[in-house]
Amino acid sequence: MTAGEVSPREESRLETNDVQTLISEIAIRERGKELAQEIGKDYDGQPLTIVGVLTGSLVFLADLTRQLSIPHRIGVLQASSYRGATTVPGSLHVSLDLAPDLEGRHVLLLDDILDTGQTLSTLVEEVKRLGPLSVRTVVLLRKLGRQAVPLEPDYCGFEIPDVFVVGYGLDYNDEFRHLPFLAGLDPEDIARHCRR
Ligand code: IMP
Ligand code: MG
Repeated sequence: MTAGEVSPREESRLETNDVQTLISEIAIRERGKELAQEIGKDYDGQPLTIVGVLTGSLVFLADLTRQLSIPHRIGVLQASSYRGATTVPGSLHVSLDLAPDLEGRHVLLLDDILDTGQTLSTLVEEVKRLGPLSVRTVVLLRKLGRQAVPLEPDYCGFEIPDVFVVGYGLDYNDEFRHLPFLAGLDPEDIARHCRR
């Protein structure tokens, strides 16, 4: 390794030092249980498919599906609006290639965070074209003061202030997804991280 390079050890220290816990692992689990109870009651006896939006929703999907006591199917589709080292949304890329057969199913679209609302509102329209019985939405987080497209999520875990969050599946430039809690990333730390 040459001078100036960041060792893997330093990189992992950077990850945990530069984030501040916003929502703890325990709080996420407790809120997840409540959401699962609510969803379980609403869809009891119905053919439900929960469709997660890759990649940010993976951890939330994995936990919620195991907290839900009613039978249901799960699937995924792809949407990405952040490309590379930026926290500013770019154009939206949607792919339904991985989506399961949704005809005759009630669909609950699951995403990590509702920010401007562009992603979920686009996906709701796309999924409707696949012939489901109904389409509703669940988000782990809703960022306040950011929404540009009108969409009321049917289920929401937490409302948070306008900070960039990572962890529990959410990323910054594909990093931090592995953190078991939700953390706020300071803009100064983002800039520092970019310079590395
Ligand atoms: P929207 O289309 O602006 O609502 O953005 C939703 C998508 O942007 C989410 O699915 C996330 O992937 C991403 N996103 C928005 N805010 C954040 C954040 O604070 N951290 C990580 N990803 C975010
Ligand atoms: Mg996403």
